[in-house]
Amino acid sequence: NYRYTERGMNDMKRIQLSRDALYRGPLILVNALYGVAFDRPETLTPVAENVLLEKQASSLLNELMREIGGWDSIVPVSGWRSMAKQQAIWDDCLRESGQEYTRTYVALPGHSEHQTGLAIDLGLRGEHIDFICPDFPDTGICGQFRKLAAKYGFILRYPPGKEAVTGIGCEPWHFRYVGIPHARIMEENRQTLEEYTEYIRQFDSPVHPCCIRIGGRAIYVSYVPAAPEETVIEVNETAPFHISGNNVDGFVLTQWA
Ligand code: DAL
Ligand code: ZN
Repeated sequence: NYRYTERGMNDMKRIQLSRDALYRGPLILVNALYGVAFDRPETLTPVAENVLLEKQASSLLNELMREIGGWDSIVPVSGWRSMAKQQAIWDDCLRESGQEYTRTYVALPGHSEHQTGLAIDLGLRGEHIDFICPDFPDTGICGQFRKLAAKYGFILRYPPGKEAVTGIGCEPWHFRYVGIPHARIMEENRQTLEEYTEYIRQFDSPVHPCCIRIGGRAIYVSYVPAAPEETVIEVNETAPFHISGNNVDGFVLTQWA
């Protein structure tokens, strides 16, 4: 989603971001207020038959599962959903379980993280697995998964006590990929994606970024407001970096030292 242009001074590289880029990347905030801007993500990869995730999310999920031997007892219940699928789930749930339950546990069609390919519902293997609210206890293998989730870039997206912030009931089974440094910062600060999106705005200059150390390596996170048309970001090209839209009004730049 971005183009490289001529070299700037020293090792700085100018990155030009189109308006579209604002609505893409692992840090897009999707909720009742901010919808999904695309129909199908570009790099869907199967986690299991009929369960697809964005490539990076899929591969890190598998790494996490390998570390804990998770796939023996944890089932991928629901990954990427098309708009039509989310609508069908909404309609079925409304008919079968009513308005209040549906609004608590199903996102409005067009506003589900599942449409981004960055979210997955996981359930403990069992005779009957509830498709809307699968069993995912805090203990045992599920507890182990949850403890390691941030290490692999995933957050518990709808935690207890944050219902008023997320607009969704507590969902112990729904995990959202945001990227490793971001998941770590959010976990440390006990922030939802709504709160993190707001928090990161103060780090709006590359000289005063949010810093986290992982395995002795410093990682800097900063926010760049989107320009009306094209946004230009200068990055140091001697180190790895990543840019994600926030789906609201700007970009999050992540730079490894
Ligand atoms: N269960 C979550 C909120 C969704 O439908 O996206
Ligand atoms: Zn879910």
